Amino acid sequence: MRFNLISKLTLATGVILVVSMACFTWLNIGNLKRLLLEETVTSVDNLSETIVRTTHYQMLDNDLPRAFQMISEAGSQKGIVRIRMISKDGRIVFSTKKGEIGTLVDKKAAACNMCHTGSKPLLHTSSMHRSRIFTAENGAEVLGMAKGIYNEPKCSAAACHFHPSSARILGVLDVIVSLDAMNAQLTEYRNKIILYTFILLALLALCLTFFMVRVVIMPLRQLLAHTEKIAEGDLESSVAVQSGDELGDLAHSFNAMTVTLRQARGELEEWGHTLEVKVEERTRELKQMQAQLIRSEKLASQGELVAGIAHEINNPLTGILVYASLISSDPKLDPELKPDLETIVRETQRCASIVKGLLDFSRETPLQKKPLALEGVMEEALNLVVHQTLFHDIVITKRYAAGLPQVMADHNQIEQVFINLLLNAGQAMTGNGELVITIDLLPGGASLFASIRDTGCGIPEEHLVKIFDPFFTTKDQKGTGLGLSVSFGIIAHHGGKIGVESSVGHGTTFTVILPLPEEE
Ligand SMILES: Nc1ncnc2c1ncn2[C@@H]1O[C@H](COP(=O)(O)OP(=O)(O)O)[C@@H](O)[C@H]1O
Ligand SMILES: [Mg+2]
Repeated sequence: MRFNLISKLTLATGVILVVSMACFTWLNIGNLKRLLLEETVTSVDNLSETIVRTTHYQMLDNDLPRAFQMISEAGSQKGIVRIRMISKDGRIVFSTKKGEIGTLVDKKAAACNMCHTGSKPLLHTSSMHRSRIFTAENGAEVLGMAKGIYNEPKCSAAACHFHPSSARILGVLDVIVSLDAMNAQLTEYRNKIILYTFILLALLALCLTFFMVRVVIMPLRQLLAHTEKIAEGDLESSVAVQSGDELGDLAHSFNAMTVTLRQARGELEEWGHTLEVKVEERTRELKQMQAQLIRSEKLASQGELVAGIAHEINNPLTGILVYASLISSDPKLDPELKPDLETIVRETQRCASIVKGLLDFSRETPLQKKPLALEGVMEEALNLVVHQTLFHDIVITKRYAAGLPQVMADHNQIEQVFINLLLNAGQAMTGNGELVITIDLLPGGASLFASIRDTGCGIPEEHLVKIFDPFFTTKDQKGTGLGLSVSFGIIAHHGGKIGVESSVGHGTTFTVILPLPEEE
């Protein structure tokens, strides 16, 4: 079972209230009872005194019937249960309850033992001491009070000479009154207090509820609504701070927490975004690397095949060339056949140069590495090509970084790579455009790069994967399709990389990366 705050607080306060009211009532009723008893005892004492005094003369005259009549009159008052007169020897001389007249009272009985406690009776004891409370035959609570009738000179000197002058006490007047009225008063008082307690309890619950709702529940509900909003991801809202107490402090710190959360989420989102970009970048890089790997493997297997064929063809070609040259310089040769033989020699030489290219591509030619300044090699390659008509109308921009370190490479082969790339660029621009050549350190400083950017026709996406393949060309009769594959082989052999970026209609950039020798 779930109790809300109000019920708990009301229950606790209610219990405290009821317990304290019960203690208060118990103490109060005890006090009140004592007061009422004292009052009753005093009035009974007064009545006894009045009876003794008013019957005094009848007694002296021994006019007992009149004295008893007066006692009967007094005994008929409301609340008086019984009045009786008991002689010194314990005999009931008179009683308003006729039946007991003449009977003896036991001195140990409640009416007597108040005075007859020890061997001697206590004379002139206080009125409170002389009273006793007991339950009457009908079950009602009653108060009895005994009053001694003392011997006086008048008594012993009276005409009847009934009592000797030596006797100190002549008898006892015992008045018994009902305590019903007093008990009823007490019950009424108790009931009233119970009623007031309940009214107080209801008022208290009402005030507490009102107070709790205004001061605690409402701010708490606001906080709860705020936390629910936060849980749903709404970090823009805030709680209104209404009080300067602990709940106000809580609202304050909640708002501060929301702001911190908002900032943290912002940072996280930004971070997530950066991560996404980084992942994309890495994926692209990985794809490129994978493509390069595939290309390298493909080229390696093609290289082996090509090298085998080139070797096989090289020997017969040398034979053909030697014998064709011999025959063409033979004086016995019919002069009419000479031009045909020269054609055979020329075409065979062409075949030989293709075979040499193939052997270069398959890395059959051993590297002769020495320290090289890349910008120097580039200048030599440029000198070889720029005089061709193809380059006459091409604007060449060179961006060589100053103080670049040297690479360890084969001069001829690197020059061959640069010539291939420059020629391809010139051919792509068909005599018109801009060539930008950059040589610099790569970020990190472990490698150098040389990039050749042209404003030529560009390479379509589907060709990009094939351009490094041997014999791939788009140049019909003019191209061999060996330039890029040979270049790729050379750069790979140097432990470097060759990359391409192109956009159809805008231009192409080839980048050669060569590692720098590791410093000792
Ligand atoms: N700078 C460039 N611009 C446009 N296409 C190029 C460029 N470089 C190479 N290519 C393409 O790559 C192909 C292969 O080049 P390459 O291996 O040098 O052989 P070839 O030049 O004999 O055709 C070319 O036919 C051409 O289609
Ligand atoms: Mg080429």
